[in-house]
Amino acid sequence: MLTPTKTMLHMARDGGYAVGAFNVYNLEGVLAVVAAAEDEFGPAILQLHPEALRHGGKPLVEMCLAAARNSFIPMSVHLDHSASDEDIRLALDAGLVSIMADGSSMAYDDNVAFTGGVTALVHSKDGTVEAELGRLAGTEDDLTVPENLAKLTDPDQAADFVDRTGIDALAVCIGNVHGTYSGEPVLDFPRLQAIEARIDIPLVLHGASGLSQEMIGRSIAFGVRKFNVNTEVRQAYMSSLTARLGESPQPDLSSVMGSAVDAMKSVVASKIRLFGTSGKG
Ligand code: 13P
Repeated sequence: MLTPTKTMLHMARDGGYAVGAFNVYNLEGVLAVVAAAEDEFGPAILQLHPEALRHGGKPLVEMCLAAARNSFIPMSVHLDHSASDEDIRLALDAGLVSIMADGSSMAYDDNVAFTGGVTALVHSKDGTVEAELGRLAGTEDDLTVPENLAKLTDPDQAADFVDRTGIDALAVCIGNVHGTYSGEPVLDFPRLQAIEARIDIPLVLHGASGLSQEMIGRSIAFGVRKFNVNTEVRQAYMSSLTARLGESPQPDLSSVMGSAVDAMKSVVASKIRLFGTSGKG
């Protein structure tokens, strides 16, 4: 059932778990997330990166909303990393009311002004806003932030940011990165704990592909209620396509799409279990 992201994050806080937000690009991705969520009886978020939104437009958004509405599991549909009014307008016009306002590349006061404006607009539609403070390194679709521009979230600034913008969830930068970690991920848990102590809204951790069970557990213990996962699901999709094309140069297309759904579904289901969401639907 289509459920506000805010409600899902508060359910997660009350239940001591976190919800996975899985980036999808097409029908196969949507089918994989819904099937995994239903098999695991665990809530999940269908997430669209602005590049996917620009490619798929209103039909893609409507497909995600319909899938969430038709599922017996609580699901929401969320726009990831939006730094432009144009993308946000496109999403709102298509019926999305859960938005990440990403002003993390802006100077602090500009980020506050941008995020506060988006929050007022989205709240007028009873929607949910996530925003980011600090800056996450790595690559996701057309968004690349080199390591020298990455910035960790300052706990005191986080408290001021939440107060001044009125956002519903805060994405933190504590050493997490988009894409593949080079070496073992190193997360700054004392920083996460300090952020959690100063603000009382749910926290979000991007770059959850490649994080160990121990890191996921500690993150949940310090207030993370939403994990964003893209790379591992996308890799499962691409590997499945490559394997099928390797087997035969002209495979049956429906069967190729079915294999891709199965491959992504298995990754999504494993994350739903890892985040403690199984059985919470
Ligand atoms: P990964 O691609 O590293 O899983 O990160 C996804 C993400 O943070 C989406 O915003």
